[in-house]
Amino acid sequence: MALLPRLLLVALLLVAVTGEADAGGAGHGQARYDRVFSFGDSLTDTGNSAILPVTAGGPFTNPPYGQTHFGRPNGRASDGRLVIDFIVESLGLPPPTPYLAGKTAVDFLHGANFAVGGATALDPAFLQSRGITSFVPVSLSNQTSWFNGVLQLLDSTGNGQRKIMASSLLYLGEIGFNDYSFVAVFGNGTVGLAQSLVPHIVGAIRSVLTDAIGVGARTMVVAGMIPMGCEPELLALLPGGAGDYYDRASGCIARFNQLAQLHNRALKRMLCQLRRDHPGAAIHYADLYRLIAAVVSSPRKYGFGDMPLAACCGGGGGPYNFNFTFFCGTPAAIACADPSESVSWDGIHYTEAANRFVAHAILRGL
Ligand SMILES: *[C@@H]1O[C@H](CO)[C@@H](O)[C@H](O)[C@H]1NC(C)=O
Ligand SMILES: *[C@@H]1O[C@H](CO)[C@@H](O)[C@H](O)[C@H]1NC(C)=O
Ligand SMILES: *[C@@H]1O[C@H](CO)[C@@H](O)[C@H](O)[C@H]1NC(C)=O
Repeated sequence: MALLPRLLLVALLLVAVTGEADAGGAGHGQARYDRVFSFGDSLTDTGNSAILPVTAGGPFTNPPYGQTHFGRPNGRASDGRLVIDFIVESLGLPPPTPYLAGKTAVDFLHGANFAVGGATALDPAFLQSRGITSFVPVSLSNQTSWFNGVLQLLDSTGNGQRKIMASSLLYLGEIGFNDYSFVAVFGNGTVGLAQSLVPHIVGAIRSVLTDAIGVGARTMVVAGMIPMGCEPELLALLPGGAGDYYDRASGCIARFNQLAQLHNRALKRMLCQLRRDHPGAAIHYADLYRLIAAVVSSPRKYGFGDMPLAACCGGGGGPYNFNFTFFCGTPAAIACADPSESVSWDGIHYTEAANRFVAHAILRGL
């Protein structure tokens, strides 16, 4: 990335932070954390997959990605900011450096973002043993070893690392969506194999948290699974009949939402156990499912438009406006007039408006 746009990006974000602080910033005028370390997939990636060779130059590196907030594509899979951006802003922190964009301790003074678009919770070798092929060679175990490397870079002593972690916020964004959806899409929409992955994925999340607690992490936010059955991509690719196929109130695919809820129940049980084992750690659960499902069921109530299951950017029309031929960021795609009316930006990822709604709810609980 050229230096000038980078400086501009920082300047824009500083303006945004000041603006938020003046407006009361959801009650977080004072930074209570010196840095944020974040993990996850494209819902949290602020620039890694734009650098990783296998995903560099993907559709999300083209306009109209980034049009709402940054004014240009910036490695985020949205029209603007992600949940993690709103969180760091309201804490009064600059955006954490995408791991692949940094090298030295100075680059990571305000933390690091290890999230990579397309990342899976589970290792590619494990997925392969179940007949599942992942496309991006990054799993939670990569992100954990990157985290340990950065921490070592910041301070090589155990005491120093504990001090750093005591003033850091750890954000474990949603992870596992890719593992589940690879199985679902290639298994013709069946969920049996995906269900069998739940304990393994929750175990991989647990490993990240126990590793972080082991080096001194005290405050963690752990995001649950999104309502997968409300994703325009899955709705369009795996169309079904009426009846038990769809969640009646929302129009979402019931069995994918049930899979997400199964994941979330297992995740919450694991977090309860972790809290008991580590009473000194504050472990928050971010209920993405409840928040997004509420918006999808009653979009007007939360300031969104009447088509919460349609992608804003893309093409093909219909209730979901999703077709890979017109995928957002490809020449045939067009964006809707007002992305703030939409929940889904490109059929897979959320709009800045939806991300802001989720982030503010998370911040109220911090
Ligand atoms: C992630 O870890 C695996 C296994 O150690 C390795 O093969 C792969 O190259 C790593 N990915 C990246 C992007 O470093
Ligand atoms: C999915 O359906 C197609 C066409 O009906 C079939 O050829 C394929 O074997 C199925 N795949 C799986 C994993 O069931
Ligand atoms: C996607 O769009 C192409 C081109 O218009 C069309 O041929 C194809 O049938 C569409 N796919 C679906 C699933 O609607």
